Amino acid sequence: MPVLDWERETEQGGGDALPKLPLPALGDTLDLYLRTLRPLLTEEQYQETLKIVTTFGAPGGLGELLQRRLLERSENRANWVYDYWLNDMYLANRMALPINSSPVMVFPPQHFRAPIDSLRFAAHLISGMLEYKSLLDTRSLPLDYARGQLAGTPLCMEQYYRLFTSYRLPGPQRDTLVAQQSSVMPEPEHIIVACRNQFFVMDVVINFRRLNERDLLTQLDKISKMADSEEECLPPIGLLTSDGRTEWAESRRVLMKESTNRDALDMIERCLCLVCLDQSSGLDLTDTSRAKLMLHGGGGAKNGGNRWYDKPMQFVIGSDGCCGVVCEHSAFEGIVLVQCTEYLLKYMRGSPSKLVRAASVSELPAPRRLRWKCTPEIHKHLSSSADKLNRQVRNLDMDVHKFHEYGKEFIKKQKMSPDAYIQVALQLAYYKCHGRLVSTYESASIRRFQEGRVENIRSATAEALGFVRAMADLKSSDTEKMERLRAAINAQTKYTVLAITGKAIDNHLLGLREIAQDLKLEKPEIFKDTAFLISNQFILSTSQVPTTVDMFCCYGPVVPDGYGACYNPQSDHVLFCVSSFRDSPQTCSEEFVQILERGLLEMRDLCVRHNADTNGNPGGKADERPSGKPKEETLERPVQSQATRMVGGTPSALGDVPRPPPQVLVSKAAAKSQVDIQTQTTSQGGSKERKI
Ligand code: COA
Repeated sequence: MPVLDWERETEQGGGDALPKLPLPALGDTLDLYLRTLRPLLTEEQYQETLKIVTTFGAPGGLGELLQRRLLERSENRANWVYDYWLNDMYLANRMALPINSSPVMVFPPQHFRAPIDSLRFAAHLISGMLEYKSLLDTRSLPLDYARGQLAGTPLCMEQYYRLFTSYRLPGPQRDTLVAQQSSVMPEPEHIIVACRNQFFVMDVVINFRRLNERDLLTQLDKISKMADSEEECLPPIGLLTSDGRTEWAESRRVLMKESTNRDALDMIERCLCLVCLDQSSGLDLTDTSRAKLMLHGGGGAKNGGNRWYDKPMQFVIGSDGCCGVVCEHSAFEGIVLVQCTEYLLKYMRGSPSKLVRAASVSELPAPRRLRWKCTPEIHKHLSSSADKLNRQVRNLDMDVHKFHEYGKEFIKKQKMSPDAYIQVALQLAYYKCHGRLVSTYESASIRRFQEGRVENIRSATAEALGFVRAMADLKSSDTEKMERLRAAINAQTKYTVLAITGKAIDNHLLGLREIAQDLKLEKPEIFKDTAFLISNQFILSTSQVPTTVDMFCCYGPVVPDGYGACYNPQSDHVLFCVSSFRDSPQTCSEEFVQILERGLLEMRDLCVRHNADTNGNPGGKADERPSGKPKEETLERPVQSQATRMVGGTPSALGDVPRPPPQVLVSKAAAKSQVDIQTQTTSQGGSKERKI
């Protein structure tokens, strides 16, 4: 399989009609970088970093050289950051995929009365998937348009075309995203069905004819019977794919020595998707337990080996009704996954199953069980992979919570952006738990641009810090709190607009760092600085993934002491999926959710009281006018950057920004919580005593 040829895909996907991702001005990025650091560093740390950034951005300095090279790169490519980003975000990351990287969609629980019901469900789903695939094959998928902020612009569609064609191949240092070669004659198409940790090749096109739902059921039924045969049972090779990427690359190298294994791997790598027929977990199927099962399969003793994590799309159908999709993330974003999954669920709801009582009577070749030749070395790898997955299972602390007091509509009535409001609420929750803000990642789509993936909205703004402090300050009046809330929401909304228009900083800083490496230069000081490491330690990893059908998305934290916080805002409620690791003394998902809920109620009460005061309206209807000008600095990009101003000899006036207790830097790779570098701080108190 060749490495994905993005240029060719652009032509096919129609993405070349879109503008190219802009390259921000160097001074603007350095200035915004400094602003984002203020709430995370001590004054002393900040001053140190200011010097480093100023030197980097000085006229004729290293920053300008790298910027020129990036500009050249942007002229020669559809998207100057894409390869850098893909590598940094996914392919070079050595962490195991389950929990750490692969998001999941969780379906509402299904009520299967008999085992055949789950197979019927699977046949119906596969049939929908094949319909969807034919939309992709004929390039008939309708173009997406942006919603929300700056609504209406067309979006890049390329991610859709990777749903059923790509594969993340593990490598010793770096993985590769590979794609099936398009050929003149379509290749025979097959899916892999996983059942009792066995893998079966199931053709979905036979003699140029797509199997109908009845045929699909017949084949699934055969597979389920074949999987029951204990004599033929082979080791749970899928567990290897749940290991760290370097470990899996090594196991795969060993597997590849045998031609039987090479054949099996080839069939899996070239399949459209996996359908995982899971055994009952024996658990109560709450939102939280289903989310966990989808994230890790319940470990080696349950369905953890009934997966192949490298494949982008794995549809899970549990005989107990626990169903959903596990997605390998490097090929596309959660929004694309949602669009595809919603199509399938709507298809299933809208088109009654075409099954008659019985399965197909036509003679179809039996699906084929994939064979593995396992050496003692592979058995050793398997038991190590199983141990690690089981540890991960025990370690995941997950809480799926429906906040039902209000949703997007109430927030819109306050003339506030719902997304910004929720982000500010997450900042408030973290501050209430820990007495400080931390580096926060919110994914923002940049699909407005050719080959656009995501940028980062850094939600821990100085304005958010101002607000959360006001909320904690008994002397602070409602008017002040409300002004600070509006300032925080304005800052968040402005940052969002910068991010979705390609003018935020994370991609640009990454580009500058990577191009220095391409030029074989020593790593610039700015990227060795502790502040840079702190700012990339995303203790809060957040993402809005809205759905229009009854299902939700969730994922794990990205650092040992962090939270993953995925939210799904609806008109009258918000679903939060909060994850963390049990072995971190800093985090507890349930506690975070409770405090988040309390904060959301306080924010609502504040708005309602304020509206009543302003309008003499006890119903709390929002004022028609904005409730006052924010006091804080705005996040608009300045005409002249702070870094540049310092070079000119005039220190910028930043003294009015509140000084925070700083963020602690924790090793990303550490499996358990461990402080690697302690920043110069006096206030790193244990989180749990510091609730307010
Ligand atoms: N007053 C009243 N209504 C407002 C408002 C205000 N001040 N500001 C926004 N709204 C409305 C919007 O018009 C929109 O209305 P709609 O529901 O009718 O479309 C709604 O509130 C939502 O807007 P908002 O909350 O501002 O968010 P958004 O939809 O623009 O989303 C991002 C912001 C950053 C989440 C979005 O741009 C994005 O990038 N999404 C992709 C995230 C992603 O990639 N997730 C998956 C990662 S794997």
